[in-house]
Amino acid sequence: MKQVTKAAELTAAVEEAKKQGLEIGLVPTMGALHEGHLSLIERALKENDLVVVSLFVNPIQFNNKEDLEKYPRTIDADLKLIESLIARTDCRAKELLAFTPTVEEMYPQGEPKEVYHFGPVEEVMEGPRRPGHFSGVAVVVRRLFDLAQPKRAYFGEKDYQQIAVIRSLLAQIKYPIELVPCPIVRADDGLALSSRNMRLSPAARQMAPAINATLEQAAEMAEYEEVDDVKEWVLDTLASWHEVNDCPDGLCFEPEYFEIVDAITLQPIADWDEAGELGAVGCIAVWLDGVRLIDIVKFQ
Ligand code: PAF
Repeated sequence: MKQVTKAAELTAAVEEAKKQGLEIGLVPTMGALHEGHLSLIERALKENDLVVVSLFVNPIQFNNKEDLEKYPRTIDADLKLIESLIARTDCRAKELLAFTPTVEEMYPQGEPKEVYHFGPVEEVMEGPRRPGHFSGVAVVVRRLFDLAQPKRAYFGEKDYQQIAVIRSLLAQIKYPIELVPCPIVRADDGLALSSRNMRLSPAARQMAPAINATLEQAAEMAEYEEVDDVKEWVLDTLASWHEVNDCPDGLCFEPEYFEIVDAITLQPIADWDEAGELGAVGCIAVWLDGVRLIDIVKFQ
């Protein structure tokens, strides 16, 4: 593994790899790596000759200043995790470049002016609740595409809507990059791994798996219940969790939304038959202990 902090250094390494006909895999991250990220990196190491992992907390995708400030920055531990992953992985890749730029290096002209629009896929769920977020993601991801020139780019399905946005970005900018969505990695108790989990108190961390458990039950209900009934049940179950369970410290779930949408268009469906070839996906955002958690369930 080699750590690279300068865009020019990354470009030089990429140009050299391209000359040799090597295939490059890109894993964009904001650091604070966990097993979920490592599963993307592992896959990239197995499918490419050179892997670029970016670790960059992208300020322009945060519409909440406090969220940006609280975002964990753990570069040294992250690099160690990548090293140990490489040591235990049967890699096709001969080299991994960990790209850790500063904000000034990434945006030398100051805050970028470019704005991306994605139409209906960004008009639902996270889009209206986090104005500017997906455009900020697109700006940094496009920069990373330009610098790393990957053949494949790896994204986790926990941020399900982000994948739809990147698919739309690729269609707009016409880059021949293969988008590789990777399944969510969960803790043994079912909680989707996320950098935000480390902000949960021990009591909240104990409660949090109820999100996935509720979604799993919803997937079973989908076999015999209507879409609206499943939606209502999920929201009610989580909102009233503290009334029927023993919840310490006055903790409770505050669901922000639960939508059942087509897996590709992300448009809400009213009937299971409205979902296309890839079926429907349930996407949820829930507050717990001041932390906003998201998760998904696939209805197939
Ligand atoms: O999913 C993330 O961690 C970020 O949105 C990404 C894709 C690394 C862009 O900053």
